Amino acid sequence: MADAPESREQWGSRTGFILAAVGSAVGLGNMWRFSYLTAENGGAAFLVLYLVLVAAVGLPVLLAELVIGRGSRLSPIGALAHYGGSRWRLLGGLFLASGFLILAYYSVIAGWTLRYALTALGGFGPDSGAYFEQVSTGATAVGWHLAFMALTIAIILGGVNRGIERVSIVLMPLLFAIICGIAIYAATLPGADAGYDFYLSIDLAQMLDFKVLAAAASQAFFSLSLGMGAILTYASYVREDENLPNEAVIIATADFAVAFVAGLAVFPLLFALGLESKVGESTLGALFITLPSAFHEMGFAGQVVGTLFFVALVFGALTSAMSLLEVVVATAIDQLGWGRPFATMALGSLCALLGVPAALDLDVLGLMDQIAGSLFLVFGGLMLSIFVGFVMPDPVGEARQGAEGVRWFGAWRLLVRTVVPAVLLVVLWQSIRALG
Ligand code: TRP
Repeated sequence: MADAPESREQWGSRTGFILAAVGSAVGLGNMWRFSYLTAENGGAAFLVLYLVLVAAVGLPVLLAELVIGRGSRLSPIGALAHYGGSRWRLLGGLFLASGFLILAYYSVIAGWTLRYALTALGGFGPDSGAYFEQVSTGATAVGWHLAFMALTIAIILGGVNRGIERVSIVLMPLLFAIICGIAIYAATLPGADAGYDFYLSIDLAQMLDFKVLAAAASQAFFSLSLGMGAILTYASYVREDENLPNEAVIIATADFAVAFVAGLAVFPLLFALGLESKVGESTLGALFITLPSAFHEMGFAGQVVGTLFFVALVFGALTSAMSLLEVVVATAIDQLGWGRPFATMALGSLCALLGVPAALDLDVLGLMDQIAGSLFLVFGGLMLSIFVGFVMPDPVGEARQGAEGVRWFGAWRLLVRTVVPAVLLVVLWQSIRALG
């Protein structure tokens, strides 16, 4: 396998890299999937379980991806082959497939948020259920999905430095400020308390359920962008002296913080407006139906808060979609010697095409999410932990570069060899059963 070319792009700064990685992690998963899952799976019990899984399973795999990426300075297929031999290219191929599939349906949902942001500006109508039906499928959905893909393609054309890094440095702080602002505003509404009670009350019985465990684990993977080489690819552009363990902790903490604060914004808003009975009605609906009803009832304040909210969602979705497209583009550049412009246009268009069925049928979208967004990622994480745990020659030595003061390498190695594969096997078995 050819080694990394001298001309490989690099992040301009450590902050740039961290914000790009946080940008990949923070997205629709944090603001929509997370609040919904928390509400459904026992409130604070799910929150605690999720935190434990992020620390014990997510963080080790996150560091694994960082180490493989920086060490090889290649995108997934080349990186895995570099340390494990050409048999491992197969896993890289699966990562690529995951990237295509996830981006395809992710962009459809992101298209809705784009449309919603515009509508919010003029104010939502009274019947948000009918509005959702009109926007979420059919020609409108296809159109906004294509618009969102075009935006993503335009940024990836700019490359690592002038595209991804520049955009992430601006959008991530803005997103965080908006979400915090809305959470503070929501706290001032009469009746917000009921929202906190719902979000933060513990239902311990649910914590012991395998289904809840599986939901929390796959959410951890989806939210941290793990299991398909996105973080690995971003790490292939870092400098040798980055402190990867510290950065892994920063990325995971920031991702959790945004999800948590988003919950602090969403639930008080819904409860203050008496819409709590509608939260659990549909997976997709929590955010795209119930919240717009709240914004409608709030009048002018709803126009302001609603626009800010959906703009923040668009920012999150965009920086996440960028990382998904970058995986496939970087692979074409590294493996096939394509130029960035051609790779981005060709593969971006292919992805846009792949998303059309999801934009025409919600069931197709749901299925793609179940298979690629959950099953493939968990399987990818399992294989990654085996790879770093048993195949890669000296992962700890590689991780230690630039991180001499860090003391938890022993724990990392142990987790990656035992707890991580064990938990992921259980989750995989559970998700396959859920499919059947
Ligand atoms: N993490 C993003 C979110 O929470 C989605 C995402 C971006 C992703 N890149 C990924 C998910 C790679 C899995 C794998 O919305």
